[in-house]
Formats: sequence, structure tokens, C-alpha cells
Amino acid sequence: MTRFRSQTALVTGGTGGQGASHVRAFHAEGANVVIGDIDADRGAALAEELGARAHFTKLDVTDETSWSAAIRAAEDTFGGLNVLVNNAGVQNPPAPIEHTDQAIWSRILDINLTGTFLGMKVAAPALRRAAGGSIVNIASTMSIGGTAHYAPYVASKWAVRGLTRTAALELGRDGIRVNTIHPGVIATPFINEPAAGATAAIADFYSPEPFAIPRLGEPADVTRLLLFLSSSAAAFITGSEYVIDGGLLLGPALQSEPV
Ligand SMILES: NC(=O)c1ccc[n+]([C@@H]2O[C@H](COP(=O)([O-])OP(=O)(O)OC[C@H]3O[C@@H](n4cnc5c(N)ncnc54)[C@H](O)[C@@H]3O)[C@@H](O)[C@H]2O)c1
Repeated sequence: MTRFRSQTALVTGGTGGQGASHVRAFHAEGANVVIGDIDADRGAALAEELGARAHFTKLDVTDETSWSAAIRAAEDTFGGLNVLVNNAGVQNPPAPIEHTDQAIWSRILDINLTGTFLGMKVAAPALRRAAGGSIVNIASTMSIGGTAHYAPYVASKWAVRGLTRTAALELGRDGIRVNTIHPGVIATPFINEPAAGATAAIADFYSPEPFAIPRLGEPADVTRLLLFLSSSAAAFITGSEYVIDGGLLLGPALQSEPV
């Protein structure tokens, strides 16, 4: 398929579990891809693997100068920017609020929230120059309820929802759509490895067995939704939020036959 031929997509956190899946799929559907990540080794390797129409730029989403360089790289290399995916994100080591260091709080807010704000701020003029486009911000099912011991992450992802709705209002008249995806539990290093400073991975404590679709999500599940939202098939969708969690937020499913 070539849904994104002649378009350019920038994916932040583009070498991670979900980000690399998104990058590969945009590329397979004809897009030029800009892989933005702090991990230069993985970024260079992914760009080399994909070959033509792929470009890695070292991007720290917390740094506005770094963002300007990434957007410039997209325009200089491929002639414009049509799609931005604010996917970079990190988890806090689990701790109750009263034992959460301010430094951890600030770091999580910086990457997950300020990174998304800066991305939209710096990309908006480029998307306007391209006569419109799509922004998708990756939040989480944790931005819909509370989750004990994850206050920085939960707060950052809740805030992304309000930011997304506000940006959708500001940018809609310029043909720029802005939407949010809320993934459930997706099998990536994010849940399979301990967050910095933690000793155990989220996956160690998690079993999907009680939920409607009793498996972990795969990056490809999220990628399919992302590509739809980024495509012209979603031309009338903006400021919307899409949960993709296999029914996690519904709560436990019935485990036995009714009597
Ligand atoms: N995996 C899940 O269960 C899950 C669930 C809900 C939401 N999410 C969200 O999905 C997104 C992708 O997560 P993932 O599961 O692929 O995790 P991941 O850890 O595999 O990938 C995260 C990527 O972000 C990059 N990154 C970290 N800090 C950065 C920075 N300052 N600048 C640029 N890049 C940076 C990392 O290098 C990595 O490539 C995140 O926003 C995460 O919060 C994940």
C-alpha cells in the first residue's frame, strides 16, 4: 500500500518498541520517515536498515533547539513535513507520591508533556507550510484513571489530553488535525524492562488473563490505529481520543458460565 507516498512523517522515540513499528509501517506505506530519538546507535541502524526515504536525527524532545534541528532536517531532506507523532515517553520508577523525588517528577513531565508541547510548537509552522497535516500524541490508558505509584507518569499523560484538545482547536483552520491515542499494556521494553531507578519491570506484576482480550498489546496494534488517524481516511477527526487496550479499561471479564 502507498497511503503515504510523497508524505513525510516524523516519529519521536522512533527507535523504541512502538516507535520503530510506526516508522517501519509509514515507510512501508510509501512515506519518507524521520526517526527522532536520543538513542543515536539504534537510530542510525534503523535508518540504514530502511535505506532510501529514511533519515535519523538525534532528537531530545525536551530541548527546543533540538526540535528545530529535527524539523529543519525533515524539510531539508524531504521537502516538507506532513505527519508528526509525539511518541517518545518514559515511565517513572514506582513510588507513592510522598516518596517521589521532585527530580523524577520533573524529568517525567519534561519528556512526556513538555516534549509533546515543544513538538507541536515547532512542527506547527512546518505543517502549515505543507498545507496541513496530522499530529498524533501518544498518551496512555493511565491518562483516564488514577494508578497508584505512577503519579508523574499519570499526570503527564492526563495533561497531554488537554494539550491535544487545545492544539486541535488552534490548528484545525489550518488543516492540521490533532488526536490522541491511549495504548493499554503493549509489549515493549517500556514494560519488559524496569524504569530507570526501579528493580522490577511492569510486566512482572501484570497478567492480562482477566481482561476481555487476554493478551498484551503488540506495537503493530497501535501502529494500525496510528496510520488510520494520520491518513486522509480520518480527514474529519480531530481532538479525538482513541483507547486501544483490548478491553483493559472495561475491567475483568466474566470467568465462568452464567448459572
Ligand atoms: N508500552 C506500553 O505499555 C505503553 C502503554 C501506554 C503508553 N505508552 C506510551 O507509548 C510511547 C512509546 O513507548 P514504548 O512502549 O515504545 O517504549 P520504549 O521504551 O520502547 O520507547 C520509548 C522511546 O523514547 C525514546 N526517548 C526517551 N527519552 C527521549 C527524549 N528525551 N527524546 C527523544 N526520545 C526519547 C527512547 O530512546 C525510546 O526509543 C510512550 O509515550 C509511552 O508512554 C506505552
